Amino acid sequence: MRRPEIRQVVVTALLLVAFAVVGVGLVAATQSLTAERIEKNEKRALMRKLTQIVPEARIDNDLTRDTIRIEAASRLGTDAPSTAYVGRRDGEPVAIIFTPVAPDGYNGNIHLLVGVNVDGSIAGVRVVKHRETPGLGDVIEARKSDWIRAFAGKSLDNPDEKGWAVKRDGGEFDQFTGATITPRAVVNAVHNTLLYFEANRQRLLAKAERAQESGDE
Ligand SMILES: Cc1cc2nc3c(=O)[nH]c(=O)nc-3n(C[C@H](O)[C@H](O)[C@H](O)COP(=O)(O)O)c2cc1C
Repeated sequence: MRRPEIRQVVVTALLLVAFAVVGVGLVAATQSLTAERIEKNEKRALMRKLTQIVPEARIDNDLTRDTIRIEAASRLGTDAPSTAYVGRRDGEPVAIIFTPVAPDGYNGNIHLLVGVNVDGSIAGVRVVKHRETPGLGDVIEARKSDWIRAFAGKSLDNPDEKGWAVKRDGGEFDQFTGATITPRAVVNAVHNTLLYFEANRQRLLAKAERAQESGDE
């Protein structure tokens, strides 16, 4: 190869490398920006759901920042520690919103927010994340139906142990047409969260009070 030809080959190769580097950089930057935006949106949606469960009128703290750490517990469907949010008024806990997982959805984990008032009644339940089938299992979403709102005000006594199941299993909660697995999983997870709260009530409330004092979890 003659000198001018070699030069041309080298220039072309360098140009290719430069384009590749710029291309990879652009893709990486877009990916990181998108991930950031998704995380921000998810966080905003979570905050909205927390205040749907415990409305701002009931509390005088920012429950989105008032958190306690919950040790891994099979009743909460997790084998890792989780975060719970504390709503309080005049410093006293009013409700704790747990973040349990229903592990037995039709398509795997259903991530929930379950708010429990200090008297052991349900403040509200919302779904954070799931992969249930659109049109069948996604009826658990508050924007798709009122089904999830039926938990508000329920407790371990209301209904009784037997009632904490879908109607198909002799309980009091509706199943969906052609879809019993999803609502069964959610009813079980909410019931288990109430059982967890009852078994750990003193410890949890003491922890929530300490969190207020230290301003930390
Ligand atoms: C493609 C497909 C997707 C399904 N998705 C769900 C679902 O998301 N949630 C659910 O409970 N059942 C779902 N089902 C139905 C379950 O397989 C099962 O039949 C049903 O939950 C049992 O309820 P049933 O006794 O009321 O029929 C799906 C079925 C098929 C074929």
